Amino acid sequence: MSKFIIQGGKKLEGEIKISGSKNAALPIIAGTILNGGRTTLYNVPNIQDVNTMFEILKDIGATIIKKKNKIIIDTSKIHKYEIADNLMRKMRSSVIIAGALIGKYHQAKFSYPGGCDIGARPIDLHLKSFEKLGITIKEEYGEMICNTEKIIGTQIHLDFPSVGATENIILASCIGEGVTIINNAAREPEIEDLIKFLNKMGGKIKGAGTDKIEITGVKHLSEISYNIMPDRIEAGTYLIAGAITGGDVKLLNANSMHIEPVLDKLIEANCKISINKSEIELIAPKRVKAVDIKTMPYPGFPTDLQSIFGALLSTAKGTSIITENIFESRYKYVQELNRMGAKIKVEGRSAVIKGTRKIQGANVIATDLRGGAALIMAGLIAKGITQIENIEYILRGYENIEQKLKNIGAKIFVEN
Ligand code: EPZ
Repeated sequence: MSKFIIQGGKKLEGEIKISGSKNAALPIIAGTILNGGRTTLYNVPNIQDVNTMFEILKDIGATIIKKKNKIIIDTSKIHKYEIADNLMRKMRSSVIIAGALIGKYHQAKFSYPGGCDIGARPIDLHLKSFEKLGITIKEEYGEMICNTEKIIGTQIHLDFPSVGATENIILASCIGEGVTIINNAAREPEIEDLIKFLNKMGGKIKGAGTDKIEITGVKHLSEISYNIMPDRIEAGTYLIAGAITGGDVKLLNANSMHIEPVLDKLIEANCKISINKSEIELIAPKRVKAVDIKTMPYPGFPTDLQSIFGALLSTAKGTSIITENIFESRYKYVQELNRMGAKIKVEGRSAVIKGTRKIQGANVIATDLRGGAALIMAGLIAKGITQIENIEYILRGYENIEQKLKNIGAKIFVEN
């Protein structure tokens, strides 16, 4: 397993181009199944989770052609409707391929995706929604076998505005008869991007970005090209890298509308933020001020930046409280940060963080994608050398993170 080695204490200054959004690319790649033809995608991030999605598509018969700045996906020869177990286990969000397979071929077989380091991550809302759409689900030996004659529109109320369940309902009901209404739908920008993509293909979906989405089934979807939106979590991550090192970082190709709650908290912590079209510049104070964070479904503070902001707060002046309202165990990174001298106490869904200037380099282990990114943040400011193991977690979601940080002055390299 590879490691990051970071020499802390360097102020980060310079420009970073934000890549395409992982969490928009994944459902959109699943959506290419629906037109049974060719789709050309631009601004797809070159990260492990996207490559896993490509592996699944190739395994069921699709072809993927990677060109310099675009990816051509041909799903005309899909002949298998089962997601291989080893690939399901590699990435939980592969469950959205099921929605697309059912939407296009009225069948899908997939194994129950296990939980991971941030919580149980059940798929009960996905399965209940499929059944509401008239899909029969047989559960055998840990596998879900889904079948339907046709998709008939219906009303679905989600107990929780689940991003994945909202995406799966849209993918399953885009081609079909009648109208499906999702109440209490997730409002994340990545869902808006998926809806924009499907409507460009000929879908009839209204309510993007609201908690009520209306999908009118169509007969056919056509071949298109599409440009994936920028990654809002990557953008927040690099702003926080600038903030924790007292630096001056400018993001290019970012969308400030997608991270307003994060920008507000950085301003509250005494960072200076200036926005000019798709550029966001952060100028950090010598030491940020403690602030409290509560994660919420969009448009609230994103759970995916909880750990990364937590690393920043471990160096802040004062005491902060984080409340994680989305996942039940998204604090695995805390024990690793505390090995570096952070003073964080987890009590249930909350973490109390006493800011300190004495963060020191240590040997730490990434526990998940965003928890690993939090360790990089701490390593950037730590006194001495930090070694982070299990960086495969981090490489799942951040394109060229080592080079992007090096370009703005970080002393970081990979040791295999
Ligand atoms: C998506 O995961 C993102 N992943 C996550 O980002 C993100 O943290 C999450 O949305 C919340 O914003 C992708 O888009 C690929 P949910 P998803 O369904 O769809 C519970 C990252 O770091 N729930 O909105 O799995 C669930 O347990 C990743 O990029 C059920 O109980 O999230 C959780 O507590 C991590 N039953 C809450 O809802 C269900 O059937 C939110 O989950 C589904 C979800």
